[in-house]
Amino acid sequence: MHIPTLIEHKRDGGELSPDEIHQVIQAFTAGDMPDYQMSALAMAILLRGMSTRETAALTEAMLHSGSTLQWAADAPMRVDKHSTGGIGDKTSLIIAPLLACDGVWVPMISGRGLGITGGTLDKLESIPGFRTQLSEPEIHRVIRKTGCVMVGQTADICPADKKLYALRDVTGTVPSVPLITASILSKKLAEGLNRLVLDVKFGTGAFMKTEAAAHELAQSMVQTGRALGVRAGVRLSRMDEPTGEAAGNALEVAEAVRCLQGDGPQDLEEIVLDLCAAVSISSREQLQHLLHSGAAWERFQQMVSAQGGRPADLTRITEIHRAPVIRELKADQSGRLTRMDARIIGQAILELGAGRARSNDSIDFAVGCDQIAKTGQAIAFGEVLLRIHARSTSAADAAESSIRQGIRIE
Ligand code: URA
Repeated sequence: MHIPTLIEHKRDGGELSPDEIHQVIQAFTAGDMPDYQMSALAMAILLRGMSTRETAALTEAMLHSGSTLQWAADAPMRVDKHSTGGIGDKTSLIIAPLLACDGVWVPMISGRGLGITGGTLDKLESIPGFRTQLSEPEIHRVIRKTGCVMVGQTADICPADKKLYALRDVTGTVPSVPLITASILSKKLAEGLNRLVLDVKFGTGAFMKTEAAAHELAQSMVQTGRALGVRAGVRLSRMDEPTGEAAGNALEVAEAVRCLQGDGPQDLEEIVLDLCAAVSISSREQLQHLLHSGAAWERFQQMVSAQGGRPADLTRITEIHRAPVIRELKADQSGRLTRMDARIIGQAILELGAGRARSNDSIDFAVGCDQIAKTGQAIAFGEVLLRIHARSTSAADAAESSIRQGIRIE
């Protein structure tokens, strides 16, 4: 294999063979292909795109760059969902136990938040004692006991993606549909799934800004999944305002608990049920009944306990992580709420300390926003539009002035 020739071939719009792609990924993972060549190839892919055959080969090569979860032939069907990320998106915490109650296994490997989008692992780690780094035998033990497990990626899973993503992050090559598809699907397929549902978000607070871009990514993931023998369903979701009424780690856990107790915000429950119905043999109505019966709440507590947390802490999570300043942001006029900008709220809570600007930043579990009003709602003068949970008065002042820029009442 002569790597410069492959780079030139892709640069000029050619198609790489599955064998060439496998060799490139093998060489790159082993350290036999320098970063500058991989960066050039990533840029050529970003500019020229990839066919479904190439994207499937890339996904497969990255999937097999490390270990994968192995299941017995008689194990229940494995399902999972992937979200492209947004503000206040705590659906995973509800979906994993709900699907487990429905008789399938959910071996959910999630990521941490970066930039304005939150991460499932950060939310879970606000539960004292909850362990997100489990060994493979521990993953199997928890799933046999509870039907679901929520963990971080181990060092052995998809090392090629870890290395390539770090390079893409600093070379302007993140927003490439085939590279995103291979990155996301390789990690999800490493779970040994039979079915996957994808929650592809678009809007101000999402990675994809337009519905057309989200549709293109969704199509690419469905076709690539199909080429690799995994049934993938898709839901396109708007992310112009936060999901639910809370954004920030412990605040989101509290809201997920409310939803598991059958008392969550309507938009959150709708997304959860749509995504679960896409991978379940049960109907949406049956799933809703299961959610409202308390079965998923029971299952979530069992999983928390199996992963080192104390279920009793779940209903007092906002007391455990209580920010010193809780500021009510009130409407300065009456009318209809037409904008509650997800990107601006995401940026404000990142600056409050709820997220990380760089991957090694530490995060503050207590801060964020809750009681966030929903667009379309009639608002009276002086009504609370949201609450800001901050470490200091000056941090609350800064968050208040930036969040006000993202609110419109007409
Ligand atoms: N999330 C991923 O895991 N990979 C990408 O390439 C983009 C978003």
